[in-house]
Amino acid sequence: MNGNRFLHFSFLPLSMRMVFTMTLLVLGTGYLFAMIQVFTVHAGRDGNPSLSADDLRIAYSGKEGGTRLESALNGPMQGMLPAEERQVILKWAHEGGAKEGYDTKIKSIMDTRCIACHNGSNPHQPNLTNYDDVSKLVAKDDGMSIGTLVRVSHIHLFGITFIFFIVSSIFAHAYMRPLWLKCVVIVVPFLSILLDITSWYLTKLWPGFAWLVIGSGALMGVSFAIQWITSMYQMWVYKVPEDIVECGGQLPMIGGKPSTQTNC
Ligand code: HEC
Repeated sequence: MNGNRFLHFSFLPLSMRMVFTMTLLVLGTGYLFAMIQVFTVHAGRDGNPSLSADDLRIAYSGKEGGTRLESALNGPMQGMLPAEERQVILKWAHEGGAKEGYDTKIKSIMDTRCIACHNGSNPHQPNLTNYDDVSKLVAKDDGMSIGTLVRVSHIHLFGITFIFFIVSSIFAHAYMRPLWLKCVVIVVPFLSILLDITSWYLTKLWPGFAWLVIGSGALMGVSFAIQWITSMYQMWVYKVPEDIVECGGQLPMIGGKPSTQTNC
């Protein structure tokens, strides 16, 4: 017996394989929901319904030149007022939405055209009766705040580390050669969490880094899929190589190198 403690799935008790299988099933479902969540939160921000690097750029670093008031007036609220009044509000918003212009031009238009619905009584429709509330709609869209990023970062770092600790502890019982490849498959998801979190902040500062958010997320997904599929397959379908069977589930080793002879 040497120091090699690797033990293949097929030599684990059935009960243990049940624990592993059920854990993988539920975590796999969780991963699918996480992807749906990412999609519904970010897709469509750039006006195109699919999820793209532009959506992430807008989510993290904001949209240049657009404010909520402008997009509403160019979109669903377009028909609520005559074109010339719309232009007055759009011009005012585009120039920064100062208090003075609000008092002289904007308030009277909004009082006639908008506050029938936007009087503050419905929490889902912005209140347009006073400058303070209107000015929130003309604030520049800066994307996610650092506060939000820090909060989501710590949740992700803790949460996803748990997930990969569990999944790779299971995957550690799989037979994969060469050994360095197995180690890469174990190490990559942990590195990609760190890379993913870093890429959020980079994208906030330099929107061009949105591709890194997508890349590191994809890397994490691919590692999860490899570990998940390999574990499930080797637990229930795969027949381990003969020499491992002879060694009771451990790898035969001679001088640190795998061997074909029975030398456990
Ligand atoms: C007939 C009712 C009605 C009138 C009048 C109306 N709105 Fe709205 N507005 C809504 C409703 C309902 C929503 C929320 C649903 C939506 O976004 O389509 C909304 C949403 C908005 C939003 C938020 C969009 C977002 O980013 O979520 C803005 C800004 C807005 N309206 C501006 C205006 C302005 C400016 C006027 C006047 C020119 C106006 N509305 C007139 C019903 C109205």
